Amino acid sequence: MTLFSPLTLGSLTLKNRIVMAPMTRSRAGVDAVPSSMAAEYYASRASGGLLITEGTGASAMAMGYARTPGIYSPQQIEAWKSVTSAVHHAGGAIFLQLMHVGRISHAANRTIPDAPVAPSAIRAAGQMWTDAQGMQPNDMPRALELSEIPQVVSEFSQATRNALEAGFDGVELHAASGYLPNQFLATGSNHRTDAYGGPVENRIRFVVETLQAMIQAAGAPQRVGMKVSPGMQFNDIHDQDPIATHLALVNAINGMNVAYLHVMRAGIGAEDAIRKSYSGTLLLGGGFQKAEASEALATGRADAIVFGASYLANPDLVERFKQDAPLNTPDQETFYTPGPKGYLDYPTLAL
Ligand SMILES: Cc1cc2nc3c(=O)[nH]c(=O)nc-3n(C[C@H](O)[C@H](O)[C@H](O)COP(=O)(O)O)c2cc1C
Repeated sequence: MTLFSPLTLGSLTLKNRIVMAPMTRSRAGVDAVPSSMAAEYYASRASGGLLITEGTGASAMAMGYARTPGIYSPQQIEAWKSVTSAVHHAGGAIFLQLMHVGRISHAANRTIPDAPVAPSAIRAAGQMWTDAQGMQPNDMPRALELSEIPQVVSEFSQATRNALEAGFDGVELHAASGYLPNQFLATGSNHRTDAYGGPVENRIRFVVETLQAMIQAAGAPQRVGMKVSPGMQFNDIHDQDPIATHLALVNAINGMNVAYLHVMRAGIGAEDAIRKSYSGTLLLGGGFQKAEASEALATGRADAIVFGASYLANPDLVERFKQDAPLNTPDQETFYTPGPKGYLDYPTLAL
């Protein structure tokens, strides 16, 4: 298997095994409507086998960052339609990453007055950017009532229906990087004593139920994927035993026949344990260069490789890999700044 071998994903045939990682780019406009630049940004990267969008809010409650998009209003759905049609026109496939920030949020970035919600009322250490007030500590969250959890799950169902209406090929549940689903998984952020906290079979419950609800809303498991990042401590996430937690989760989803499990590796070797236990398609990302990616596919460590910063900086990453051409360097200064600079102006190879 090579980076250029096709891959079957349900009814989709990916033309290669190079996947664009979900990346927040903070270019959305008022009311969390994706920017009109997004169609060109994604379509110019459509030569990858699969593109995964930036984390996108499932509801107003799910939002926490400046200038990130949602998929809960008619205007947002309309704007996403121009992205999916541009990508499809360019021959690509695209999944929307569905995100709920949970306790990683600040009031200045929200459109509703409600405090952010989390498994437990434990503030995440760290700060985030707000356009109005600069860097601010994460807000103190309120613990979700047991009776409220079905509503949060149903927001993911509705957002899944909205994403399919907008023309996406599927949706990815963002259960990585310290956001709400990951907050339920981890012992440091989940101190609940009900059916959603305590032993691992309870801590995985929110993620499993959300995934099931998304599958039902999508009408086919092959339109749903999930991202995890076992061992990653970003956003103050700490778990006593991340490998055991994620193996329990893998076990619970093994029979679901979802499109893929996407693992972002974080230096604890969880990806190899997951590869052994997971029966479905595995996408693997986190710091890959071409040589290591090719080797990971050749040795069967993954079915496709996910590229983040390198894909951000190289719209024609696939062609550059084919030609062994040098890569543009990602400019961190413009990862999250508004406007086209660092978004639409990375050069492609001269024809
Ligand atoms: C600018 C930027 C924004 C990111 N935003 C997201 C996001 O919205 N959702 C997500 O799951 N991961 C996000 N990530 C993480 C990437 O998906 C990926 O896992 C990570 O960059 C590691 O891959 P790499 O070493 O190839 O860049 C982001 C990464 C970057 C560089």
